[in-house]
Amino acid sequence: MSGPAAVLIGPPGAGKTTIAHALAERLGLAVRDTDEDIEASAGKTIADIFVEDGEPHFRELEHTAVSTALQEHEGILALGGGAVLDPRTQEELRRHTVVFLDVRITDAARRVGLNTNRPLLLGNPRAQWTIMMDHRRPIYTEIATHRVPTDGLSPEEVTEAVLKVL
Ligand code: S3P
Repeated sequence: MSGPAAVLIGPPGAGKTTIAHALAERLGLAVRDTDEDIEASAGKTIADIFVEDGEPHFRELEHTAVSTALQEHEGILALGGGAVLDPRTQEELRRHTVVFLDVRITDAARRVGLNTNRPLLLGNPRAQWTIMMDHRRPIYTEIATHRVPTDGLSPEEVTEAVLKVL
């Protein structure tokens, strides 16, 4: 099948970027991250896009970035946590190998500190993350071809768990 060898989805703090790099190294593949693609083409950070242009505009840029990467990239692809919210993206992902890195609040908070460069988590990051995940978990679960629970695992262990399902 053409397209990425694996697409990683999951909330902020799931470890998508770290695991994407580890998988790419193990498999001798290139890694691509749609958050980075968006920042490169917009010429500014995601936080600035949210503040200056608003979330709907960010989601449009994100849809384009994901669509393009799904067509062009043959290595490991990491998506931003909210990319799966777009119904067009959901439809496109159905043709691919999609791994949901599942995580609970404790581990997510430890991994990224749920810090303030994530615009959707401003204010009360733990509460926002929990509300976000209640809404998104069913979507991540439905879209994914594989779900890998990551709680309590090191990046190496998560990488092994993903390699087993690929
Ligand atoms: C978002 C997650 C972020 C980034 C943006 C929105 C989200 O990516 O795309 O801040 O809606 O969950 P990470 O999942 O890599 O933090």
